[in-house]
Amino acid sequence: MGTLFCLTLLLSVAPSTPGHVSGRADAAPAPGLRDLAAPLGLRIGAAFNDDPTLLDPSYATTLAREFDMGVSENHMKWQFVHPAPTTYDFKVADAQVGFAEGHGMTYRGHNLAWSRQNPAWLVTGPFTRDERIQQLRDHIAAVVGHYAGRVAQWDVVNEAFDGLADPLHDPWSVSIGFPEYLDIAFTAAHAADPTAKLFYNDYNLQAPNSKFDHLIDLVAGMKARGVPIDGIGFESHLSARSCTAKCTNDTLKNMLRAHALGLEVAITELDVSVQLPATSQKLDQQASVYRSVLEACLLAPNCHTFMMWGFTDKYSWIPSFVHGYGAALPFDEQYQPKPAYAAMAATLSTPPVAPSCAAFPDRATAQKAFDSGVLGAPMLDPDGSGTACENLPAVAAPVAAPATVEPAPTGEKLPAVPAPRAAPVVVAPAFTG
Ligand code: G3I
Repeated sequence: MGTLFCLTLLLSVAPSTPGHVSGRADAAPAPGLRDLAAPLGLRIGAAFNDDPTLLDPSYATTLAREFDMGVSENHMKWQFVHPAPTTYDFKVADAQVGFAEGHGMTYRGHNLAWSRQNPAWLVTGPFTRDERIQQLRDHIAAVVGHYAGRVAQWDVVNEAFDGLADPLHDPWSVSIGFPEYLDIAFTAAHAADPTAKLFYNDYNLQAPNSKFDHLIDLVAGMKARGVPIDGIGFESHLSARSCTAKCTNDTLKNMLRAHALGLEVAITELDVSVQLPATSQKLDQQASVYRSVLEACLLAPNCHTFMMWGFTDKYSWIPSFVHGYGAALPFDEQYQPKPAYAAMAATLSTPPVAPSCAAFPDRATAQKAFDSGVLGAPMLDPDGSGTACENLPAVAAPVAAPATVEPAPTGEKLPAVPAPRAAPVVVAPAFTG
């Protein structure tokens, strides 16, 4: 009761417009990340930590100033929202969604079926297959129905695979069957709110790998069966030392494979941990990973959502789960912006521009540039096969005179070899998350 009262107070006092980033109060008011992202058609957001973090004024004002999308880090999961067979508890999640609505933010729902954070009554059972199906349908009807029209995207199924490519043995796949339970869950979510976009969410999707191949097979099958799936969430729990020079394009390749199936993608849980203690060199490495993931999203035609798994190091899951690591978010524990914040602000202010295929004499040159980190979705063919500029000849015909290529659509002459990009090419260590 007291908590809700305080939350109501905060709803009315926390600013919904950008202000000063704390620690630079003498500087001119700076736009928040949300103001920089909006003109690009991008929603930028953060996970809301557990109750009662919204009661911390620094937390609430920073959140509202910087982000225009929220997601509950924990409080829409079964453990919290459905603690007993016939009991639903939306108290904290309602306050979080209310805060978001009070500050012009949209909301993601996370999640409706996962192997973890399930209440004991659900895990213990035993239940028959039919009972499990009914549980899943009832839960989704209740939760998605409760937020119908207020939650724009749902992570319907979370992490159905393990770290590689094997389906997990969770209550749903064991009792109902894989992938049948996904079809049931997405169909139920669509019935409960036909306006919500429905995502499959997982980790380790940052580069071409067998897990992503299996996932593409899975979602292609769902689409073929008419299951209402709209997108794939790339969680993106990364490390500052885990992104190579071509990681932006590796991520892009996967995003474009989803695009070829008519699916959106979203960065859903980005954080970039560093080994403690955090040094300025490590924080700079971290910043380049943040920039790289943001560049991939900005370059992909089907990425309109960029979420971090929190925003301040004061409340991050990393230190208690990954021994010796932390400092994973763009604000430190005192709500001071870190280099990662500056990198994202700069990237949003000067978004990456992909070179046209017309800038390359042949496919081999374009592919080489792409693989070495020259950024570019347009360099990839629409089917997302990962082959750059398929319309170009495989190798350029020998020419006597110094090469110039056909004018680009804008009419300007382009050199045979692409000019260096104004923005720095990402040089940072390969994703592992
Ligand atoms: O609610 C209990 C509380 O009653 C108890 O007093 C307290 C004692 O530690 O624990 C509380 O539950 C914790 C819960 O977070 C809420 O704070 C759990 O122990 C803790 O395990 C749980 O951790 C969450 C984790 O998922 C569980 O797997 C993290 O906060 C959350 O950040 C993390 O989020 C996941 C995404 O949902 C899916 N993708 C990966 C991501 C990171 O693991």
